[in-house]
Amino acid sequence: MKKQGNIYLIGFMGVGKTTVSKYLRELTGWEEVDTDKVIVRKKNMGIPEIFEKYGENYFRNLESHILEDYAKKGQRIVSCGGGIILRENNRRLMKKSGTVILLSATSQTIYENVKDGKDRPLLNGNMNPDYIGQMMQERQPYYEKAKDIEIVTDEKAPKDVAFEIIERLQIPMAGKEEEA
Ligand code: S3P
Repeated sequence: MKKQGNIYLIGFMGVGKTTVSKYLRELTGWEEVDTDKVIVRKKNMGIPEIFEKYGENYFRNLESHILEDYAKKGQRIVSCGGGIILRENNRRLMKKSGTVILLSATSQTIYENVKDGKDRPLLNGNMNPDYIGQMMQERQPYYEKAKDIEIVTDEKAPKDVAFEIIERLQIPMAGKEEEA
């Protein structure tokens, strides 16, 4: 079988990329990569600490390097940090090396999902629906440019979102999970 391109999951913080990615891994048997987790592992530091010590630009450079590495590999589920779409080069690289799935939800849903977390430095001190809504609006043009397919997740279970992605991309399911 011809090796397929990556599946890139993009979308705002807290939209459910990590959970959908886990189901996609189970259903396809593909390797799963989470750009944030790779950064934390490589630097042996938490994301808030990296932002605090080295700044956002440094973090974005690490993110872009990881993307470059995995864009070359193919047949991976790449769960991306919410800000990966900010750089034009990242957007171009994702489009070229796979299918980019935008997961979206309302700012209220996002707020409910992120409000108790402490590991998102960009929301520090601004953990409220208005701020989140404003940030989502600012980023919307970049998400639009980056996406191939959009799935609105508010009313959907993450597993159903994963099934929908597999169906739309016509990716064969791994045998053992077929009856899941
Ligand atoms: C960020 C999203 C985070 C993480 C970092 C910056 C962003 O990832 O990469 O805190 O700019 O939207 P998640 O989308 O997985 O929360």
